[in-house]
Amino acid sequence: KEDKQTPILAILEEVAEWYSLQLKEHLQRDKAISYLRKRGLTGQTAKAFGIGFAPPGWDNVLSRFGTTAARRQALIDAGLLIDKPEEGRCYDRFRDRIMFPIRNSKGKIIGFGGRVLTNEKPKYLNSPETPVFHKNQELYGLYEARKYCKRLERFVIVEGYMDVVMLGQHGLHEAVATLGTATSDTHLRTLFRRVEEIVFCFDGDEAGRKAAERALMTVLPLMEDGRQARFLFLPDGEDPDSLIQQEGLEAFQRRLNRAQSFSDFLFDHLQGGEVPDTAEAKAMLSKRALPLIAQIKEGILKQLLMDNLAHLTGMDSQRLQQWLEHDQPAPI
Ligand code: CTP
Ligand code: MN
Ligand code: MN
Ligand code: MN
Ligand code: MN
Repeated sequence: KEDKQTPILAILEEVAEWYSLQLKEHLQRDKAISYLRKRGLTGQTAKAFGIGFAPPGWDNVLSRFGTTAARRQALIDAGLLIDKPEEGRCYDRFRDRIMFPIRNSKGKIIGFGGRVLTNEKPKYLNSPETPVFHKNQELYGLYEARKYCKRLERFVIVEGYMDVVMLGQHGLHEAVATLGTATSDTHLRTLFRRVEEIVFCFDGDEAGRKAAERALMTVLPLMEDGRQARFLFLPDGEDPDSLIQQEGLEAFQRRLNRAQSFSDFLFDHLQGGEVPDTAEAKAMLSKRALPLIAQIKEGILKQLLMDNLAHLTGMDSQRLQQWLEHDQPAPI
């Protein structure tokens, strides 16, 4: 396994270095640089994140780096080449894109995200799953957060590469992004090993709100006394990148510090914004809430959530507790 990974990691490193060199030296570098400028990115930030440019063309990487059969195989295994032997074709995966190297927590490059410079689709192209790159485990920006942040007290989970990079440029180094996938249990465990607080900060759009509800369900079984999860909902049409450029670090920090708590968001979600005022509504709320609260580790937080449910339904805390322990209804 080790032997399979070594050549892949080595070639990823080589190609990443070449991509960043292209941002400085390629004949078409100007369009890449002006794109990054237009987005507000400084050269210093580009350097800090190792951002590069994959120039147009089908065989830049193939011809420069695939000089032996073994190296060519490493490029294929690394996800840098698309190999279609049945069609007799093998070509560069990333062409004419801004390249964001993705590092593992030790700082080794394990894959890339590539953004088009225009409105073409797909907007982002990511490395496929490879022996060194597992999307549901890795977080973009985690290595950089630990490198640039003196004392990490919390992580902010955002959706995109540009969100992490632009927050970093403004001095907020605690942001990490999932790689075009939902936040997984593994992602959250990785982060909770290092800090006690996670703030979810997805885009201010329908997809972002859906992602927050999914994240609520994923973080629920990991909640325990001493841990905090909070949810920051951004104004419509904004994402962390656009918002911090608009209002600056301090205003963004204030939003983060005021983000909705796990428990408030959980009850908002369960109640659908309404106070249950009939026996039926109270029963419905209990039926929804109990199986969720049951997933939380024993402790004060769990007890307080039970107390809150008791208060909302007018039930006695003890009787609710019995439901939790014995007659727990099936999740709906
Ligand atoms: N994404 C992806 N493939 C796509 C679109 C999005 O993998 N075709 C992932 C990327 O990681 C992207 C994230 O989902 O960063 C969030 O998507 P979106 O909000 O649409 O993009 P932004 O990050 O805001 O991109 P930009 O600001 O560059 O337009
Ligand atoms: Mn593996
Ligand atoms: Mn979005
Ligand atoms: Mn964006
Ligand atoms: Mn976005």
